[in-house]
Amino acid sequence: MTDDIQRSIARLAPWFHNLHLPGGVQTLPQHFLGGDFPAFKWREIAPCIPEDLAGWRVLDVGCNAGFYSFELARRGASVLGIDVDEHYLAQARWACGQLGLEKQVEFRRMEVYELARNDERFDLVWFMGVFYHLRYPLLALDLLAERTRRLLMFQTLTMPGDSVFEDTQDCSIEDRRPLLESGWPRMAFIEHRLAGDPTNWWAANHAGVEAMLRSSGLRITARPGHEIYLCEPDAELAGRRSMYASQFEAATRVIRGGVGSS
Ligand SMILES: C[S@@+](CC[C@H](N)C(=O)[O-])C[C@H]1O[C@@H](n2cnc3c(N)ncnc32)[C@H](O)[C@@H]1O
Repeated sequence: MTDDIQRSIARLAPWFHNLHLPGGVQTLPQHFLGGDFPAFKWREIAPCIPEDLAGWRVLDVGCNAGFYSFELARRGASVLGIDVDEHYLAQARWACGQLGLEKQVEFRRMEVYELARNDERFDLVWFMGVFYHLRYPLLALDLLAERTRRLLMFQTLTMPGDSVFEDTQDCSIEDRRPLLESGWPRMAFIEHRLAGDPTNWWAANHAGVEAMLRSSGLRITARPGHEIYLCEPDAELAGRRSMYASQFEAATRVIRGGVGSS
C-alpha cells in the first residue's frame, strides 16, 4: 500500500507542497524552501482562522497540490481550489482521494481572472503565493476583494523593509521627492527574473501591500507571518472602488466574453 503511494508520488513529481498522507508518507519531505513547507506557514496562520468552518465556502486561488484546501476542508469548509497548472491539479485531485476529502473539495483548472465569468462569492478567499506571479495583479485583487464575504488571506513576495510613509494623500507635480521615501507604497517590476523565475513579475514593499489592499476595499486585521496579511471587507474602503469602477467593468466584461456589448 505504502509502496503504491510512493510510486504515485514519484509519477506525479515534481512537487511544491509537502503533503502528509495516510501511512506517514510525505510528498516532498526535503523541501528546497527548508523545513516542512507549507506546514510551517500553516502553523503561523492557523490560529487566525476560525477552527470551525462548517457552512463556509472557501476559494483557494493558485491551490497547487491543495495543502491549504485540505487543511481548510478539515475544519469543515466546502472548498473550491483553482490553478492554471494541470500538473499541480493532478497532484491535488490524487491527494484529495488519498485523504478522503472528495466530498468537500473540488479542484478546477482556471485562471484567476476567469472568476469574473461567474458571480459566486466566498466566505474565505485564500490568495497566497500568486499575486506576484500575475501580470495584472490589481485586476485579480479587485476581483477577489469583490468576491470576499468575510475574510481574505493574502501573501505575496515583498521587498525588504517595513517602513510606512504616512503622508501619501497628495504629492506636487513639481516636487516628487516623497515618492522616493523608503516607506512610500511601491512595487518593483521584474522584467526578467527573480530567483531565476521569469513568472515573478512584481515585488511590493510592505507599505505598497497595505495600500493596495486598502485601495481594493480590504481592511487588514492581522499579520500572522512574514508577508502574510489577513483582511476583511470594509464598506468605507470599498467606497473607493467607484474611482476605478469603469476600468474594472470594462476589463471584466472582456473576460466574460461580452466585449462590444453595452
Ligand atoms: C508559488 S505557488 C503558491 C501555491 C500555494 N498557493 C501556496 O501558497 O503554497 C503559485 C501557484 O499559483 C498558480 N498560478 C499562477 N498563476 C496563476 C493564475 N493566473 N491563476 C491561477 N493560478 C495561478 C501556480 O500554478 C502555482 O500552483
